[in-house]
Amino acid sequence: MQQKQVYIKTYGCQMNVYDSEKMTDLLGTLGYRVCEHPSEADMMILNTCHIREKATEKVYSELGRLRIVQQARRNRGLEAFLVVAGCVAQAEGEVILKRAPYVDFILGPQSYQALPELLEKKRSNQILSRSPAGVALEFDAEDKFEKLTTISPFQESRVSAFLSIQEGCDKFCTFCCVPFTRGAEFSRSAQSIIEEAHTLVNAGVRDITLLGQNVNAYHGLGLKGKEWSLGHLLQALSDIPDLWRLRYTTSHPINVDNALIAAHRDLPKVMPFLHLPVQSGSDRILKAMNRHHNRAYYLKTLASLIEAQPNLAFSSDFIVGFPGETDSDFEDTLSLIAEMNQMGAYLAQAFSFSYSPRPGTVAAPNDNVPPVIKAERLQRLQEVIQVSQQQFNQRSLHAKMPVLFEKAGRHMHQWIGRTPHMQSVHVYSDAESLVGQMRCVTIDGLGPNSLSGTLET
Ligand code: SAH
Ligand code: SF4
Ligand code: F3S
Repeated sequence: MQQKQVYIKTYGCQMNVYDSEKMTDLLGTLGYRVCEHPSEADMMILNTCHIREKATEKVYSELGRLRIVQQARRNRGLEAFLVVAGCVAQAEGEVILKRAPYVDFILGPQSYQALPELLEKKRSNQILSRSPAGVALEFDAEDKFEKLTTISPFQESRVSAFLSIQEGCDKFCTFCCVPFTRGAEFSRSAQSIIEEAHTLVNAGVRDITLLGQNVNAYHGLGLKGKEWSLGHLLQALSDIPDLWRLRYTTSHPINVDNALIAAHRDLPKVMPFLHLPVQSGSDRILKAMNRHHNRAYYLKTLASLIEAQPNLAFSSDFIVGFPGETDSDFEDTLSLIAEMNQMGAYLAQAFSFSYSPRPGTVAAPNDNVPPVIKAERLQRLQEVIQVSQQQFNQRSLHAKMPVLFEKAGRHMHQWIGRTPHMQSVHVYSDAESLVGQMRCVTIDGLGPNSLSGTLET
């Protein structure tokens, strides 16, 4: 097999990170190793995100840079295929070629399995005769997961890994492009998920994060023919002996069911940390967003979860400046965070965004909050989130907690791991390596984005 190199740059959510791994696994079987610099690459892939305008624009500026590299390599007689994969590929399709005609392949998020065949065709010039690029934009999630099961012979071992169990979204929040870029909801079968989990664990993985745009809407075929919810799946995965930690993301508040609450109560491997986006604290805005839940429902859901598992902490997503959002709606978002913390459903971290109108979505034509107001609200919200995160970390001070170590730090003898609540912890140790070990650590310092601690001996 001829030795080749691939450069891949990933934008957007964890599902794209997972997909990039799958693409490099697939290319690994064709002899491609991952490289760090585009100038060394026989193939350059941008795995793109369409969620906000800025994310999409970044892709075009990066393509402009890669084009220069592509030209330089081709002048030296070297291969330099340029691939646009992911959600921009799906949303814009061949329109990409109008702005970037030098792109060789356009691959939607459920069509990566088409890459080897397209590559073959391109090399034998079959594609060139008809269209300048090889394009694959089918929504065939089932085919994707069936075909992308190999692990690259060049894959490095790691402690934590993602595992996509569900794709797409049927919720159509009025701000969001995901139902258009990832298609309808599809759940993989429990058997294929369990097999993939075993493969990961055999390769040294100890912490798996199950992924889906709406991961807790999971309803795949179970082991005995009946449909399983996420709660059932977590139970089955908990039985894998060398798998120590399970997480899942991203969840929707309306799909938190009793089986999932029971999983948090009964399964020690299910980590007490839940990313449960709320978007806004105002009922009026939640309705306009088509979120299918109000503020009270969200808080009630949190109450049921912490009743079952008092150690649970939360993370969330917020949008400011959604069309029609008034000062008072925005104040409702700030007060929601205060209310969560008061009831003990601590907000340990959160992501927040300025509303960005996306083509084809219901809310896009109504974008009417001025950019300066969006910016002001975003800044205020981020300050409140920051304080909430610091207070949460403060509570960890002097506590002993199990830390799973993932990598070496930047300094000599420094090691970095994570707590059950996803906080990053730095320790110093003379040990040859702590990577892959679960150790008890006493937290004795707080940094802006991480904790420091001392290993228990
Ligand atoms: N499936 C997940 C996440 C989807 S995208 C969910 O249902 O929560 C991740 C986050 O991006 C969203 O939670 C939302 O906060 C943000 N987002 C999505 N569309 C956006 C838009 N048009 N403008 C600003 N933020 C947006
Ligand atoms: Fe987008 Fe809403 Fe679906 Fe999440 S639930 S992916 S925010 S449409
Ligand atoms: Fe972006 Fe697509 Fe994920 S739009 S957030 S990469 S699903």
